[in-house]
Amino acid sequence: MRIDIITVLPGLLEGPFQHSILKRAADKGLAEVVVHNLRDYATGKQKNVDDYAFGGGAGMVMMIEPIAKCLEALKEQRDYEEVIYLSPDGETFRQQMANELSLKKNLILLCGHYKGVDERVREHLVTREISIGDYVLSGGELAAAVVTDAVIRLIPGVLNDETSALTDSFQDGLLAPPVYTRPANYEGWKVPEVLLSGHEAKISSWRFEASVRRTGQRRPDLLKDLEGHGDKNKEKK
Ligand code: ADE
Repeated sequence: MRIDIITVLPGLLEGPFQHSILKRAADKGLAEVVVHNLRDYATGKQKNVDDYAFGGGAGMVMMIEPIAKCLEALKEQRDYEEVIYLSPDGETFRQQMANELSLKKNLILLCGHYKGVDERVREHLVTREISIGDYVLSGGELAAAVVTDAVIRLIPGVLNDETSALTDSFQDGLLAPPVYTRPANYEGWKVPEVLLSGHEAKISSWRFEASVRRTGQRRPDLLKDLEGHGDKNKEKK
């Protein structure tokens, strides 16, 4: 999979993809993230990428021209399934959407800045808008990093133990169960006995029940969504 990220602040995205799982995905040739500086596609002496809003009002607006040029240059090289604009008024990003995007071959993520992009970019050049939550960031870069991370780790072969993505929180509509490691007894704080028993079926059913309990306590809204799917989940956990 290849993800091209278009931004006016490429420096903000230098770090996240150089470490851990995302770096391993790149090293294994499973995912490539390429960051493009929108200013490279700006024309004129000043290389402006933003301008005043027609009709007045505070804040600058990202111009359509450099964005269109950058998209054109990328699309000449390969086909993209989606051109995604990161914006607080987009569709809320969830695990299901991460699963769906992880099956794509080439994606473009466009990061907004200032007052956002000229509306014509959204109308004509973008295929999808994604928000990572109901809060406003200074720009789309951190949102793009979040989406990229959540998507790339789902590509088969990226995680060492492929099943570990399947047991993530949200993957089956439930929060993940608690996990423990050595020591089994830390100053009187003990690991649940069943996890030390080696009895796979009992461990699996303990984990499922712990997942349901935790989801009920912390995210009862998720349990409501799951009504009618309980048996399917029980088999999976
Ligand atoms: N840009 C600014 N805020 C954002 C958000 N919550 N999600 C995605 N992009 C954004």
